[in-house]
Amino acid sequence: MPIRKKEVSKTIRQFARFAHEYDRYNLIQAEVARRLVSKLSRTQYSTILDIGCGSGEVYKNIQKRKIDFDTFLALDASKEMLALHPEDSKTQKICADFNIMGSIQKLNLVKDRTLLISSSALQWSEDLNFVFSELSSVSTKAYFAIFTANTFKTLHQTAKLHSPIYSENLLKETIEKYYQATFELQQYTLEFKTAREMLHYIKKSGVSGGEKQLTFKKTKQLLDTYPLGYLEFEVLFVEATSLAD
Ligand SMILES: C[S@@+](CC[C@H](N)C(=O)[O-])C[C@H]1O[C@@H](n2cnc3c(N)ncnc32)[C@H](O)[C@@H]1O
Repeated sequence: MPIRKKEVSKTIRQFARFAHEYDRYNLIQAEVARRLVSKLSRTQYSTILDIGCGSGEVYKNIQKRKIDFDTFLALDASKEMLALHPEDSKTQKICADFNIMGSIQKLNLVKDRTLLISSSALQWSEDLNFVFSELSSVSTKAYFAIFTANTFKTLHQTAKLHSPIYSENLLKETIEKYYQATFELQQYTLEFKTAREMLHYIKKSGVSGGEKQLTFKKTKQLLDTYPLGYLEFEVLFVEATSLAD
């Protein structure tokens, strides 16, 4: 039987398309990365692996806080996003998809010397059990910030759409199978002058993917009926220690 190459997922294609403009649309993600990095307890790490590193918000905050490391592994499935990531002699860029078996394992990390961090990316996990099982097997300590299904809540309700991303409860339940974890839930809002600007933002920010379900008719209906002058976001912050030995 012929082996089919896994198709590049829609999410990754979307990031590739808008990579050049991403920094203009990542206000919330930038704030989320800032908060996530502020939770790191140490000022020196051997290896830091940033999953879904994008244009380097985590890296930039690590630099700002003067957190030192021997190696920074910046991993993303989009070449275009990786091209925007800062470079230095201790940083390696890795183009890989965290949904694919073996892509993290083959980095051959030393488990208790690797800090795993991921900001605003793991909502794209195709199978939460698979992803957290893989991640918890390569590093003992991990920090995650993950957008929840309450992101764009009123927008989804108005358009009668289901959120394409995971609920807070499902995220917590799954993470607790693989980690001893503490959680913090944060809500954010972002104001817009017009509904049109808001929809434009949704298309480019890459937070939820809900826009892919918006037909022309639904978009128009939304422009007329969305009751808020702002968009809603919800993020689950996780500080985790792997249960796997
Ligand atoms: C919303 S951005 C966040 C980027 C960065 N961490 C930040 O805080 O600004 C999500 C990133 O995850 C990447 N991504 C999405 N799905 C991925 C996957 N399956 N494997 C690796 N990277 C992925 C995207 O290419 C994108 O760069």
